[in-house]
Amino acid sequence: MFSKNSFGKNFLWGVAISAQQNEGGYNTDGRGLSIWDLFARRQGKIKGGFKPYVACDFYHRYKDDLLLVKALGFNTFRFSVSWPRILPDGTGKINKEGVAFYHKVIEECLKLDLIPYLTLYHWDLPYELEKEDGWANDRIIRWFNRYATVCAEEYGDVVKNWIIMNEPMGFTSLGYMLGKHAPGKTGLNNFFPAVHHAVMAQAEGGRVIRQIVHKAHIGTTFSCSEVIPFTDKPEDKQAAKRVDILLNRLFIEPALGRGYPKEDFRFLEKLELYNRAWKYTDRMHFNFDFIGVQNYFPLVVKYNRMMPIVQASEVKAATRKVPHTAMGWEINADSFYRMVKRFWLYGVVKEIIITESGAAFKDKLVNGAVNDVQRTHYHEKYLRALLKEKNEGINVTGYFAWTLMDNFEWAEGVKAPFGLIHVDFKTQLRMFCIRWNNRNYTFF
Ligand code: GAL
Repeated sequence: MFSKNSFGKNFLWGVAISAQQNEGGYNTDGRGLSIWDLFARRQGKIKGGFKPYVACDFYHRYKDDLLLVKALGFNTFRFSVSWPRILPDGTGKINKEGVAFYHKVIEECLKLDLIPYLTLYHWDLPYELEKEDGWANDRIIRWFNRYATVCAEEYGDVVKNWIIMNEPMGFTSLGYMLGKHAPGKTGLNNFFPAVHHAVMAQAEGGRVIRQIVHKAHIGTTFSCSEVIPFTDKPEDKQAAKRVDILLNRLFIEPALGRGYPKEDFRFLEKLELYNRAWKYTDRMHFNFDFIGVQNYFPLVVKYNRMMPIVQASEVKAATRKVPHTAMGWEINADSFYRMVKRFWLYGVVKEIIITESGAAFKDKLVNGAVNDVQRTHYHEKYLRALLKEKNEGINVTGYFAWTLMDNFEWAEGVKAPFGLIHVDFKTQLRMFCIRWNNRNYTFF
């Protein structure tokens, strides 16, 4: 068995949330609309037709919720700032009340001795900017620069830990290629520009924070999933390689100064042709202090010539009869171990923080509590793998559980609960997944 102490005194025990998924208050105190507020109005886009207007009402309940963070034993709190709350039009006029809200959140964290980790962009683009093509418009690099500047000037004295972006592959692929997330766009004409501009804006955000915030500790986050070929057949292996390049290398490699991994996947050469801003490629790189690794599950794929571009399709965990969560995601701590190691093996990453990992399960309430054995086991297994990594000399300095409480899980609505705390969305009642004095999350 391991204990909290096995990770050393300075280890960051964090829990992560995001503005769009938790805050609500969507039209309160001058906040502008986000692409998700609008996307949720479209028929069939969000399970159960859920609208994220109130979400967990963190906007009004942040004080109580931060007490819960403390009570669970965490020492670090990751949250994101809502761009349309700060700049309702995306650029231009600053919304003072919106700015004040995060000052209060940060102040409360500091009072409770929780280290704030502030994420600048966790997918809630101001709708006003999407009207001008959002991430597909190269002006977004300037818009993002302005937003990052406002945040840095406002919060830079009190927040030292900055995360520029949450999973650029997530919002560009789901939002601008597959149409499953806001803004619901599809096709390469949207995807390629969005990718390039997100890469550039990410590095730009890093530069802005470095310049304005004294002694800033700057990182950004990447999603990753080990991609395993279903069989040893060469066509399955090739298929796995293509998916791997897209999922795991497309964003980290330009950020590290290696450019796009296009020599390994000819299709990516087209990326160049689609981007008017291509000439600025020397600005894709930023010297991040840490990399936020976000890993939940591995993917098993096989060759499928019917699938465009990657010519691969997933062999689901349920089909393979391996343990999985309510999202259908395979639970595999060995794969988590291998992915974290891979980031380290680039040789230039100075520090790794696991900025998200977690599991959705359909919780059952018994006498007002959830006996949360499955979720506890998940975190325990992933933490054990991480400890091994740490003991092998990899500079992993923290683990942030996704997420504090059940929240608005994007296209899944509220049907995929990831929370350590159960939320009843009709009453906003929070319930510890484990009874208060008998909780299993002793490692946090
Ligand atoms: C991540 C994302 C989070 C959360 C989580 C679980 O990709 O950053 O916002 O939704 O997945 O699906």
